Amino acid sequence: MVIIIAGAQWGDEGKGKVIDLLAERADMIVRPQGGANAGHTVVTEDGEFKFQLLPSGILYPHVTCVIGHGVVADPRVLIREIDQLRERGIEPDNLVISERAHMVMGYHPVFDQLEEGVRGDDRLGTTRRGIGPAYSDKIRRIGFRIGDLQKEAFMRKKLDFVVGQVKNPILTDLYRDRTFDWEEMLAEYRDYAARLNPYIRDIYPLVQDALDRQANILLEGAQATMLDLDLGTYPYVTSSNTTAGGALTGSGIPPTRVDLSLVVCKAYTTRVGYGPLPTELTDSTGDQIREKGTEFGTVTGRARRVGWFDGPVARYAVRVNGAESMALTKLDVLDALPEVGICTDYEFRGRVHDHPMANISHLKHCSPRYVNMPGWQAPIGQCRTWDELPTKCRAYVEALEGVAEVSIDLIGVGPRRDQFIMRKRSFFG
Ligand code: GDP
Ligand code: IMO
Ligand code: MG
Repeated sequence: MVIIIAGAQWGDEGKGKVIDLLAERADMIVRPQGGANAGHTVVTEDGEFKFQLLPSGILYPHVTCVIGHGVVADPRVLIREIDQLRERGIEPDNLVISERAHMVMGYHPVFDQLEEGVRGDDRLGTTRRGIGPAYSDKIRRIGFRIGDLQKEAFMRKKLDFVVGQVKNPILTDLYRDRTFDWEEMLAEYRDYAARLNPYIRDIYPLVQDALDRQANILLEGAQATMLDLDLGTYPYVTSSNTTAGGALTGSGIPPTRVDLSLVVCKAYTTRVGYGPLPTELTDSTGDQIREKGTEFGTVTGRARRVGWFDGPVARYAVRVNGAESMALTKLDVLDALPEVGICTDYEFRGRVHDHPMANISHLKHCSPRYVNMPGWQAPIGQCRTWDELPTKCRAYVEALEGVAEVSIDLIGVGPRRDQFIMRKRSFFG
C-alpha cells in the first residue's frame, strides 16, 4: 500500500508526528522533495527529535528510509543529522540516499542570503538554507547530484566550471561578496563522499522491488500545499512541488500505484515567513494560540504567524492532493478558548470565493467570512477515543470536516507519540 502524506496549509502541520505514527507498520518511507528547510518533529520516550533531511521513520530500524531524488540535500546537514543520531545511540543503517538527489552546495545558502538582501522589503522570508538557489541550478542543469560525490574527476571539472565561470563572477561583479575556491571545495566534498558513500544508491530498483512486494510505502511530503511552487501563494512559496504530484516525481512512484492521499492539517493555521495569510490573528487570541502551540519555527526559531482554521485552504488542499483522509493535529492547543472561528469562504470586492485566489493581492486584501463555535474549555490531552472528546470539541471537528469536505480520521491531542485518536480508518489495512 502506498500512502502520500502532504501538508495542507503553510507547513509545520505535524507531518513528522503522523509519519512516525504510521511508520510502525511501514516498510519504506521516501522523502520526495524539499531539503533542510523542513523541520519534522517526532517525540518518543527518548525525547524530541527534529529531522530536516532524514525521513521521520528513521527511528524504526525495520523501515528503509529513502531520501528521494526530488530532494535537495546539503551534505553538511546530512552528516550532522547522522552524527546527532549516533550520539543518541541510533545507527541509521536503514538510510538510503538517491544518487540522483541534488546537493545544496556551500554557495547556495550564500546566494539565498544575498538574494533576500536585494529584495529588501519584498523579501520572501526564506529559511536561508539555499533551497531556491539549489533548485534553480538543478533546472538550469548546473546542479551537482549526490552521485557526483563518487566521481572525483567529474567533480573537479564541473566545480572548475560552475564555481569558476558561473558563481564567482556573479559573487564579485554583482554582489561584491566573497568568492569560493573550487579546489578547496573539492577537498571538502571528498570528505563528504567518504562519509556518505555507504548510503548512496540508485533507488529505482529498491523502490520498484518494494512496489512489486506490495510493501507499505509512505511518501513523506515536506512543506505544504500553500507553499507549492505552482499551487501556493507564489512568489511566497518554496521552490519545489510540495503536493501529491511532487511526491510522485520525487520518488519515482507512479500515480497508478498510490492507494491513499492523506493531508495533515492543524486545527488552526500558521505560517512562517511572508505572504498572505487571510485568517491571521494579530490580537491576544493569536498570542495565546502561539504560546500554547509553541509556534516557533523548528528550523529558524522564528515566531510563526497564527490564524483561525482556513476552510478554503483546507478544501483546496484536499482537492489538489486528491485526499480522501485528513489528520487533524494540535486540536488540544484550542482547549482553553471560549470561542473558535472557522473561515468558510472569502469575500473580495463583493464576490464570494470558496478557494484561495491565484492573485495574492486579492488574497491579502480579502475578508474571510467566519462561523464561530463555542469552545470546549476542557483539556483533551488524555483523550484516546472519539467518544472521550467533549461534545463541543466533536462538533468543531465535524464542522471542519464539512468545510474541508474530507473525513478526519486521525486527531492529534498532544505532541507525544501516544497522544492521538485513530477515528475511522486504520491505515495500512
Ligand atoms: P512538520 O514540519 O509538519 O513535521 O511539523 P513541525 O514538527 O515543524 O511542527 C509541529 C509541532 O507540533 C512539533 O513541535 C510537534 O511536536 C507538535 N505537535 C504535533 N502534533 C501535535 C498535537 O497534536 N498537539 C500538540 N500540542 N503538538 C503537536
Ligand atoms: P516543514 O516541512 C514551514 C517557508 C519559509 C518561507 C518559504 C520559502 O517543516 O513543514 P525556502 O527556504 O523554502 O525557500 O522558504 O517557505 N518554509 C516552511 N515553512 N514549514 C516548512 O517545512 C517550510 N519550508 C519552507 O519560511 O516562507
Ligand atoms: Mg516543520
